[in-house]
Amino acid sequence: MCGIVGILGTQPVADDLVDALKRLEYRGYDSAGISTVENGVLGRLRAKGKLKNLQKRLNEAPLQGHAGIGHTRWATHGAPNESNAHPHMTDKVAVVHNGIIENFKALRDKLESEGAHFESDTDTEVIVHLISEELASGRAPEQAVHGVLAQLEGAFAIAVIFGGHDDLMIGARRGSPLAIGYGEDQMYLGSDAIALAPFTDRVSYMEDGDWVILTRSSATILDEGGQEVERKITKSFASAMLVDKGNHRHFMAKEIHQQPEVIAHTLGYYVDLTKNIVKIPDFDIDFKTLPRITISACGTAYYAGLVAKYWFERYARLPVEIDVASEMRYREAPMEPGGLALFISQSGETADTLATLRYCREQKQHVAAVVNVKESTIARESDAVLPTLAGPEIGVASTKAFTCQLTVLACLAIKAGRERGHISKDEEVELVTQLVELPRHISSVLKNEHLFEKIAHGLAHKRDVLYLGRGSSYPIALEGALKLKEISYIHAEGYAAGELKHGPIALIDEDVPVVVVAPKDDLFEKTVSNMQEVAARGGQIILLTDDQEAAENFNAASSFVVPKAHSFTNPLLFAVPVQLLAYHTAVFMGTDVDQPRNLAKSVTVE
Ligand code: G6P
Repeated sequence: MCGIVGILGTQPVADDLVDALKRLEYRGYDSAGISTVENGVLGRLRAKGKLKNLQKRLNEAPLQGHAGIGHTRWATHGAPNESNAHPHMTDKVAVVHNGIIENFKALRDKLESEGAHFESDTDTEVIVHLISEELASGRAPEQAVHGVLAQLEGAFAIAVIFGGHDDLMIGARRGSPLAIGYGEDQMYLGSDAIALAPFTDRVSYMEDGDWVILTRSSATILDEGGQEVERKITKSFASAMLVDKGNHRHFMAKEIHQQPEVIAHTLGYYVDLTKNIVKIPDFDIDFKTLPRITISACGTAYYAGLVAKYWFERYARLPVEIDVASEMRYREAPMEPGGLALFISQSGETADTLATLRYCREQKQHVAAVVNVKESTIARESDAVLPTLAGPEIGVASTKAFTCQLTVLACLAIKAGRERGHISKDEEVELVTQLVELPRHISSVLKNEHLFEKIAHGLAHKRDVLYLGRGSSYPIALEGALKLKEISYIHAEGYAAGELKHGPIALIDEDVPVVVVAPKDDLFEKTVSNMQEVAARGGQIILLTDDQEAAENFNAASSFVVPKAHSFTNPLLFAVPVQLLAYHTAVFMGTDVDQPRNLAKSVTVE
């Protein structure tokens, strides 16, 4: 998936396009490009790699058009090189595209047999040739685009400008997000409102199947059949400020360090701090009669859901079904009507999560979403929105969004437990008090961050690392392994500690470090047995615990002790050491911590 932007301006728009693309880099960063139309002539600049490469080209040879489109790419079809970078164009039309054209092969074969010459391996280029063909046969740009949209299958958002038309841009949305920005005699298109924030706060969100014809003074939105439709213009609260790293070397470091503050902020929203009880605004699900919760999400957000499963089942005796969204969307899972379907997403745009949400709605579930971006598609399509107050997360590897998701889910589990009669009033106060203590405990972990530099040396340059945990520490082991592989490129796997003997133990030797997440809870002794099994085979243990004595007595290669807290809040607390371990290993290895290779922050394709 990718980020797209379009501007019909009154000055040269190239710099503004690049500025908007900077805000969209979270959607992909393997190449970038812009195209403008100047006195009817289309021009284009593209560059492989990060935006700064494109910026350099622009400095050398500025584009002067007052109308333009821009793109930052995460490759789906075709390698991330310059010829596959967007915009794709002929002399008649230039197109930027986010998403996948599923029938591109058939369309390309047909176009080539008719003599079209393709310059890239992308699916996008078929759109360019199809529109050019329509224009060549005498159709107006609006008719040409409408005719082509009907031929495309898949999920996509596009922005299109035309040779010979300095005051025209067409956008279309099917599946992938696209917003229209309204300025003073200027018009904008962007993958999200954040991209448009420096230019306007008046935004409307296109709906699936919509396409829009823009001039500097008008926006005509049409549905698939070509009928004009109204879409409300809302005030966007996206900040025009580009977030900076502060005193930190990376956004990821800054975001790890922000956790005490943003967790406290999130708690302030979900907790009555005068009584230490949970209050969830705008959420009227009756947990008492609720038959089941179905949770679905992707990546790190999925692991937050997995922790929540342990909480809902243990503290509220509420059955939870959970699956990654890419599986759940196609499983055709039967669902009893009236259940709660809960989606977790930092961006609120992840394509698989959104598709699962729509499936669950068809299955007559109440739909609730824990999201960090309140204006996102997932938020807009949910019956109840549970915002995380993490603030913008820029590092591709999720950290503060994860712990804020856990914070919201912990509050929800307490509410469910109370309403279902499994948590007493006093127990509620006790659990909320433990949550309120968390920012302080996390700060104390962060004060000892320097210890991770040394531990990370033990991981760096290893080929494989195993992470083990039991109970609610198991999802933290999975998250720890994901963090490490995402940013250091070391192969890492998280396992339920008890599963070790069913396979992964075969991997253990002195070259395979094993990170064990082992708070001293009711499962601690079981996990110790698994550590013994590792030690007996020469494995190097990195022990993360909350028990000083255990850390001293167990012959671990290294250990880190977090403050003693309640077993309920331990997943939140232990999330931080696994983040720090991954971060310092990646720094030691010299990888691109904030924008690791091949990844993107928001994945809006399947
Ligand atoms: C991508 C990101 C992950 C994230 C996942 C789900 O893979 O790199 O960090 O956990 O998407 O994203 P979401 O925005 O739905 O939480």
